[in-house]
Amino acid sequence: MRQFALTDSPAYDALRTHHAYASAWHMRDLFAAEPGRFANLSMEAAGLFLDYSKNRVSAQTMALLFALAKERGVAHHRERMFAGEKINTTEQRAVLHVALRAPRDFGVIVDGRDVGADVHAVLDRISAFAERVRSGEWLGASGKPVKTIVNIGIGGSFLGPKMAHHALRASCHPDLAFHFVSNVDASELEALLPKLDPHTTLFIVASKTFGTAETMLNAHAARAWTIEHCGAQSPARHFVAVSTNLEAVLEFGINEANIFGFWDWVGGRYSLWSAVGLALVLAIGSSGFKSFLAGAHAMDRHFQETPLERNMPVILAMLGIWYRNFFGYGSLSIAPYWQDLQYLPGYLQQLDMESNGKRVTQSGEPVQVATAPVIWGDVGTNGQHAYFQLLHQGTEPVPVDFITVLKKPATLGTHHTALLANCLAQSAALMRGKTADEARAELQATLPIESGSTEHNATIEQLVPHKTFPGNRPSNTLLLPAMTPDALGALIALYEHKTFVQGVVWDINSFDQWGVELGKALAKDVEAALMASSKPTHAEHDSSTAGLIELIRATR
Ligand code: F6P
Repeated sequence: MRQFALTDSPAYDALRTHHAYASAWHMRDLFAAEPGRFANLSMEAAGLFLDYSKNRVSAQTMALLFALAKERGVAHHRERMFAGEKINTTEQRAVLHVALRAPRDFGVIVDGRDVGADVHAVLDRISAFAERVRSGEWLGASGKPVKTIVNIGIGGSFLGPKMAHHALRASCHPDLAFHFVSNVDASELEALLPKLDPHTTLFIVASKTFGTAETMLNAHAARAWTIEHCGAQSPARHFVAVSTNLEAVLEFGINEANIFGFWDWVGGRYSLWSAVGLALVLAIGSSGFKSFLAGAHAMDRHFQETPLERNMPVILAMLGIWYRNFFGYGSLSIAPYWQDLQYLPGYLQQLDMESNGKRVTQSGEPVQVATAPVIWGDVGTNGQHAYFQLLHQGTEPVPVDFITVLKKPATLGTHHTALLANCLAQSAALMRGKTADEARAELQATLPIESGSTEHNATIEQLVPHKTFPGNRPSNTLLLPAMTPDALGALIALYEHKTFVQGVVWDINSFDQWGVELGKALAKDVEAALMASSKPTHAEHDSSTAGLIELIRATR
């Protein structure tokens, strides 16, 4: 138990007092006053380099943030997670995605079972299966090897495999094509199926619960399409499933030998490391997947063993708390300067917002402070030509995580250098800004109007406010040495632990997601009303929903 509610805690109070004057600092001045700032506020862990010097902090700020982390029991709660305690209290579940990337002798028993042994048994099975498919040994119903893999799943059973496959596409099997279908909108599957050869297509139905409406609808449609083209017995050779719900998978009609399990102590958004990563194993091979797990495990070790002051996930988490709770910034932008990390912002959106988008504490009291920020973003340099204007000159600062990769194996001309240059330039511009005097001097030197004339001076004064940048806008820069499976594994684990630490500070349960249930339940009622023969009544639906249902019914 924590001794104080967050906002009553001495460490929180000290930060509040500190913020009252620290908020007046400009990072330009902090850099000028501290020549060693980059060295002081940067670090390496599990092969990743983090520069956090472009934040509105001093050494004292960091010390106060670490004091808060200590006071909130981050180290204690971290141990509880690694020990397999049931820290997901609303579902009475352990939270052990870290076990999915740990050695066989991890040594944690949950509900009487050795977690490490179970994990490695499934890992061995998915590795063996993937190698059979990759080598062409696994044959479809008509004796042809697999050429195309379609992952059907949504949320954590989709975002992770898709993001990681895309990030590592340079190292994917050259003769296998991958598709990821998630949406209940039929247009996804309708557009894809006609392009596929049913005789060489393998479907992975990935669903923790094996009850998610979108996934089930898509899985049934894919199954019917396979049977239509390849015969009634064909699903045995063209369908595999990844789930914790063996019974439901068997009922769907997938052979037990083609089912890869995982456990209720793996949250959907933390499941990429389990059999949910099967598409990735098929893409990069079992040795690539093991490197991916090893990278994440290296970050786990760092997180578990390093004092909070040098702990990368803790540093990112506490900087996030500083902006969210003391500056009141409502969002965090993820800007990967690496095209293949295109799906990372969406992946982190689920990780962070589904985990920490909570409004009550562990004991059910309203949280007294803001919790998860909105996570959004896009790849650089595309984002620069879309939303960066707001980042530079909008009214509410948005902290940014810049992520880029140092080595690119083969590249066209100077593209990679230009990409890195843009990444660094944007964080520098956000930090420095441009003062009115600088804008004025620049205009004086460049304006194509006679210097010193009335028009010249008036035009300059008219333009100065528009060309001034406040700067002082915070960012982190994360560098991956190369886009390898281990570096990607470390990066994802970093954000998982960051999310965990923030959840501990806020005293919320980061591992349930009751907030998505209400909409799911209502969707069933609305679907029934859309298909019913009689009009919806206002007793069943509010007038807006009833009106919309009626309008849709009239068009069909
Ligand atoms: O609706 C939210 C959610 O439960 C996520 O947490 C999960 O990743 C997703 O749905 C998919 O669930 P499942 O893997 O059980 O199909």
